[in-house]
Amino acid sequence: MFTNAIVRRPCRAIVHGITSSPELGKPDIELALKQHDDYIAALKQCGVKVTVLEPDEAYPDSCFVEDTAVLTRKCAIITNPCADSRKGEPLEMLPAIRRFYEEETIEYIKAPGTLEGGDVMMAGDHFYIGQSNRTNAEGIRQFISILNKFGMTGSAVPLSTVLHLKTGVSYIENNTVLVSGEFIDDTRFASFKRITVAPDEAYASNCVWINGTVIVPAGYPNVLNAVKTTGYKTIVVDTSEYRKVDGGLSCLSLRF
Ligand code: GLY
Repeated sequence: MFTNAIVRRPCRAIVHGITSSPELGKPDIELALKQHDDYIAALKQCGVKVTVLEPDEAYPDSCFVEDTAVLTRKCAIITNPCADSRKGEPLEMLPAIRRFYEEETIEYIKAPGTLEGGDVMMAGDHFYIGQSNRTNAEGIRQFISILNKFGMTGSAVPLSTVLHLKTGVSYIENNTVLVSGEFIDDTRFASFKRITVAPDEAYASNCVWINGTVIVPAGYPNVLNAVKTTGYKTIVVDTSEYRKVDGGLSCLSLRF
């Protein structure tokens, strides 16, 4: 169960966010704000208390709070993003995290380690960590060492094409994952019940499970149907403006 979520309102500088899909155009900030309102409403509908942080114009990608920390039942792990334009974001998130975690349960990924929360997928007390262009082997080593200190475990998943691990695979509880692309045949996920996502809906392999409900991005009918058929309640939220800067549903919140 999750009881809390933290989000940060998108800033106007989001038009300068990092993107691998410039052909999608720049985000429309007014529409992004409306979609953020809907996202917050969906989180609340799932029963979590939402802490809403002010926009931070210094960091174009700062609404993607998931990359700044990993919040577990036992500790908070403050990340060290690889992208230069995002390096300062965890420090801006720290005051909000200190409202929920005692200082002795807050840990830090330190250089030369890099790690972004989008690369971390929690499945109970085990964490899968994508080794990506953003998260390096040293970051993963530090992360697993912190997990072990608090009685949890982790394992690395080398990535070949996607930005972050959760760009292509999401754990939606009940031993179930959504998998696309390079993860479909990945034996690391073979013991899970797998919902396979076709290439034309790959963006929707990033869904969010909260307290029995799965939030699914708008515009991906096959994924929505598969998640419903598997037995979940669903809420659909449009994230078209965030997709333009490589953001998915999970990127927009910290859930704990
Ligand atoms: N635009 C999100 C990221 O690249 O981190």
